[in-house]
Amino acid sequence: MAYNLLKGKKGIIFGALDSNSIAWKVAEKAHEEGASFTLTNAPIAMRMGEINKLAEQCGAVVIPADATSLEDLENLFTKSLEALGGKVDFILHSIGMSPNVRKGKDYGDLNYEWFLKTIDISALSFHKIMQIAEKKDALNEGASIVALSYIAAQKAVPGYNDMAEAKAALESIARSYGLRLGPKKIRVNTVSQSPTMTTAGKGISGFDVFVDFAEKLSPLGNASAEECADYVITLFSDLTKKVTMQNLFHDGGFSCTAISDEFIQAFYSKK
Ligand code: NAI
Repeated sequence: MAYNLLKGKKGIIFGALDSNSIAWKVAEKAHEEGASFTLTNAPIAMRMGEINKLAEQCGAVVIPADATSLEDLENLFTKSLEALGGKVDFILHSIGMSPNVRKGKDYGDLNYEWFLKTIDISALSFHKIMQIAEKKDALNEGASIVALSYIAAQKAVPGYNDMAEAKAALESIARSYGLRLGPKKIRVNTVSQSPTMTTAGKGISGFDVFVDFAEKLSPLGNASAEECADYVITLFSDLTKKVTMQNLFHDGGFSCTAISDEFIQAFYSKK
């Protein structure tokens, strides 16, 4: 059910790779809620061609950009403002990639060139996007900027590898930029989402176990990509005008639960 929460708002959505992507669901919901936006992804991800289906469905223009390239981001903002006919009201950063994770490197045997790439793609890109948006005066007063994070920023998770450091930096960038953009009434937040079966998620070793464990521990169960999109829409809407510089857990209560009855029973029944 749509509520016209984003009627007349303009935005840029990063990171829709395929229909499982969290950004894909956000784009669908933003369209339903009356927003217009451009879609962007790394040129290499475009080759799969799936994003064009989403663009057609949402009436969006697709503009390729490697989120680590300042030149690509400059071009993206110039073209987005042209396509949308004005400044933007919301931005979604839904980008993550670690070459160390992808190539199966152990945390005790990291390739540091790749570590820097992980940080550049998964965290610094968020800073670059906001720096360029600010320099180009591309954001309307009251705009809302959201990036997606994961609890490994606060608590150690085996296998999450150097992405944990990237997420910690991402959350810190949200606070620092939220402070900076506050005078323009612009909000910057991160949403810390439950483990979700997407291309990025499945790249983490033992991911299916995380999903199962989190599902059992969370009082409300895991949050789906679609539920995450619903939450992000509220953050883009005018209903959350005073929420900024937060890392907002969208995880069914996982982050606040130490142990559940289900785990206690499972543990004692084995004794
Ligand atoms: P996904 O694989 O669908 O999306 C990741 C996106 O990052 C892809 O569209 C990919 O093309 C894009 N990307 C990678 N390198 C890029 C670059 N250099 N420039 C521009 N885009 C680039 O997976 P998902 O799960 O939708 O990931 C979205 C965000 O959600 C990521 O930040 C991820 O870390 C975060 N997240 C995911 C969780 C999960 O369990 N799937 C849990 C918590 C957070």
